[in-house]
Amino acid sequence: MAATVRVIGIVGSLRAASYNGWLLHAAAELAPPGLTIVPFGIAEIPLYNQDVEAQGDPAPVAALRAAVRDADAVLIASPEFNYGVPGVLKNAIDWISRPPGRPPLQRKPVAIMGASQGGSGTMRMQPQLRMTLQALEAYAMPKPEVVVPFCKDKFDAEGRLTDEKTREHLTGFLAAFLDWSRRF
Ligand SMILES: Cc1cc2nc3c(=O)[nH]c(=O)nc-3n(C[C@H](O)[C@H](O)[C@H](O)COP(=O)(O)O)c2cc1C
Repeated sequence: MAATVRVIGIVGSLRAASYNGWLLHAAAELAPPGLTIVPFGIAEIPLYNQDVEAQGDPAPVAALRAAVRDADAVLIASPEFNYGVPGVLKNAIDWISRPPGRPPLQRKPVAIMGASQGGSGTMRMQPQLRMTLQALEAYAMPKPEVVVPFCKDKFDAEGRLTDEKTREHLTGFLAAFLDWSRRF
């Protein structure tokens, strides 16, 4: 792997003022030397349809597939929706889970983080996402975890992560992710 680990960041929320988008932004800001994080939007990904897939990847899917393939690692920041993985994120992953046997996430280091407005901080969503990543043989970093409960209190109105403890924890998480990504 090259000296710099190039990470694409995927957010499981399409909201402009998404806390998870802001969390990813904070991660890009706090990333240690040797780790670069570039967000990749999934808003244009259509609903998965095998008939459409049979005619070839729609352009946004092809772009996501190429971005994941070209990246050294993937960082996912996602809310929890109804105790689970938001449909938009699961849908995007389902598209690039194909073709079976050689999806671009296979053997790719992945880290998960999540922010929620409630107290669970995405604790129920994250194991479900890990299970999906396991199906693709992605290498999801087991620990440390980033769960940000009551996220409204941890960002300012401009979307900056202001909670010092969360910033510190995120910094350590990113150092661990750099180390994890370099193992493969
Ligand atoms: C459809 C829906 C379902 C939700 N379900 C949960 C949930 O299960 N657990 C939770 O902690 N928050 C839940 N929330 C609240 C989210 O934590 C909150 O909307 C959060 O800001 C979404 O993330 P975002 O800011 O990145 O868009 C839900 C919100 C929506 C819109």
